[in-house]
Amino acid sequence: RQLETDSSEATREGFEHYMLKEIYEQPESIRNAMRGRLDEENATAVFGGLNLTPQQSRMVERIILTGCGTSWHSGLVGEYLIEDLARIPVSVEYASELRYRNPPIENNTLVFGITQSGETADTLAALRETKRKGHRTLAICNVVGSSIAQAADGGVYLYAGPEIGVASTKAFTSQCCVLAMLGLYFGRLRHLSFERGKQIIEELRQLPNAIQQTLGCNEQVRDVAQKYQNASTVLYLGRQFNFPTALEGALKLKEISYIHAEGYPAAEMKHGPIALVDKETPSVFIIPRGTTYTKVMANMEEVKARGGPVIALANEDDPQVQAVADDVIHVPQVPEFLQPIVNVVPLQLLAYHIALLRGCDVDKPRNLAKSVTVE
Ligand code: G6P
Repeated sequence: RQLETDSSEATREGFEHYMLKEIYEQPESIRNAMRGRLDEENATAVFGGLNLTPQQSRMVERIILTGCGTSWHSGLVGEYLIEDLARIPVSVEYASELRYRNPPIENNTLVFGITQSGETADTLAALRETKRKGHRTLAICNVVGSSIAQAADGGVYLYAGPEIGVASTKAFTSQCCVLAMLGLYFGRLRHLSFERGKQIIEELRQLPNAIQQTLGCNEQVRDVAQKYQNASTVLYLGRQFNFPTALEGALKLKEISYIHAEGYPAAEMKHGPIALVDKETPSVFIIPRGTTYTKVMANMEEVKARGGPVIALANEDDPQVQAVADDVIHVPQVPEFLQPIVNVVPLQLLAYHIALLRGCDVDKPRNLAKSVTVE
């Protein structure tokens, strides 16, 4: 059984499609994810529904993040975030694999099911099975009162509002934001200083404005879409925090435009995908300033040298990128741990415009359902 999209609570409010409306809602949905959860006084994040005392949270030695599709991608972002901010080992599992894999799970492990709908059958089954084994299960979920929200021992709601477009957009950025706040929370129970905690809160508070600014690239993205709408394969490349962003960008394009796309860590390109590069195959490089900037630049030059068209997502005033890439889409400079939340926005828009130009049904792509409630 596949759930019908329930549009009763949401209208398109003048937008041509739900997906576009939901992309534009992201400054607001991110604000909602953070509302009441940033605690300046203690330089940490607070969550009403985790049902864990600070003592219990401090005991956590491992975190498993599980989900499907886009929610699995936010799990990958969460792995980088939580390991970086809280120094807790994280593993990310496809829920469909975890439910049958029966891996050894140590004591003091938290299992988070990440899900927009709260109804995905595999995610529900994976959580139930880990719960049966005696592990504490939590949900990062958008739909209040959904099956997964009920099955878990506690969790964090996204409060992103109804997401109607089948391709997930605002749920992804809200999930990443919640995971960043969880990183802050667990980090503050360990090695993160008061000062660093305050700084992270300040950086989080600036996110909605950064997303708003990013949305200004829409026209630019439309022109890029026009140029590449007939591609039959597109590569998406990024490193570290922007590797899951690349996966998510590729998934968006596949889902709604039916163009084959692959996301890869940029440095892995030389182990296979570079063989796909020719003058008909564009590569999207996510290359904002950061620790791997020069490495990604070298990969970009390699693609250029092989005649592949290059679209770059880069910060403004970056003459180096400008000199190599065929097309540049500007994204504001934000701290590395928050980059996926900002950088995914132009990729959502790119998929949207390409799908539109190809005459695809953006909100209801063929063969896909908003919520997959069967195996
Ligand atoms: C379906 C949707 C995807 C979504 C995935 C997981 O495949 O089409 O957009 O990412 O399910 O859904 P969930 O509701 O669990 O996040």
